[in-house]
Amino acid sequence: MAFRDEAVVPALECRGLSKQYGAGRVVLARLDFTLGPGEFVAIMGDSGVGKSTLLNLIAGLDSADSGDVIIDGSPVAQLDDNAATRLRRQKLGFVFQAFHVLPHLTLAQNVALPLLLNELPTAGALDMLAAVGLGGRGDDFPRQLSGGELQRVAIARALVHRPKLILADEPTGNLDPDTAHEVLSLFRTQSKATGAATIMVTHSEAAAAVADRILILSDGGLHASPAKHALSADPFSRDTPARSADNAR
Ligand SMILES: Nc1ncnc2c1ncn2[C@@H]1O[C@H](COP(=O)(O)OP(=O)(O)OP(=O)(O)O)[C@@H](O)[C@H]1O
Ligand SMILES: [Mg+2]
Repeated sequence: MAFRDEAVVPALECRGLSKQYGAGRVVLARLDFTLGPGEFVAIMGDSGVGKSTLLNLIAGLDSADSGDVIIDGSPVAQLDDNAATRLRRQKLGFVFQAFHVLPHLTLAQNVALPLLLNELPTAGALDMLAAVGLGGRGDDFPRQLSGGELQRVAIARALVHRPKLILADEPTGNLDPDTAHEVLSLFRTQSKATGAATIMVTHSEAAAAVADRILILSDGGLHASPAKHALSADPFSRDTPARSADNAR
């Protein structure tokens, strides 16, 4: 694959990542993982297995007991606090289950936040809103939106500053299946359009099916999913053959 080429810097590398809580509650055990630029990966696994913990370690919201997180070629642990914060601000985007759209800001202001934090021109916020189907709604407030629309705002905000890596924790967990399908298709399309690599944690096989590959977190490590080709009751069956071919890689 392209990212195995020495010249191509992976969007993310986790090397020997270990984390345990308290005495003996091992969550991650020397986990290795490489994500190529622009790749869209779904991570599944039982509740409590450590999926959110893994995202938190990658995001720097929690610290590993050992191992390295390397984002776009930069080993985060070797940076001082300011440099690590700057790296995350520039290179990461987040989509959460509960949207985390700020209620007192307009949609345009919500989406502009990562641009402001990175001292970039904020004009791109309206284009990004339009790209997620909310053109002309920049002056609306979050309370005027449906759940699916709120999550599209969250996706626009995660992508607007063109981060290398998007972390999404159950991004459609609060949406009905039809809305989830719509939002996920858009999420994938926009991630690919901006060139972001994406890690999406999900409990839904239908959601995971939009990914380039599916990994299962179990026993502290990530494993290729045997279920990738065996989605028997896929409610997203409207998807095109082109996408199915993509999934078969
Ligand atoms: N701050 C913490 N202190 C102690 N234990 C924790 C902490 N955070 C998580 N854990 C434990 O680590 C394990 C993994 O939790 P995590 O939230 O990563 O699971 P998950 O795979 O995201 O589960 P879910 O699918 O339910 O969201 C759980 O047993 C949890 O209780
Ligand atoms: Mg979780």
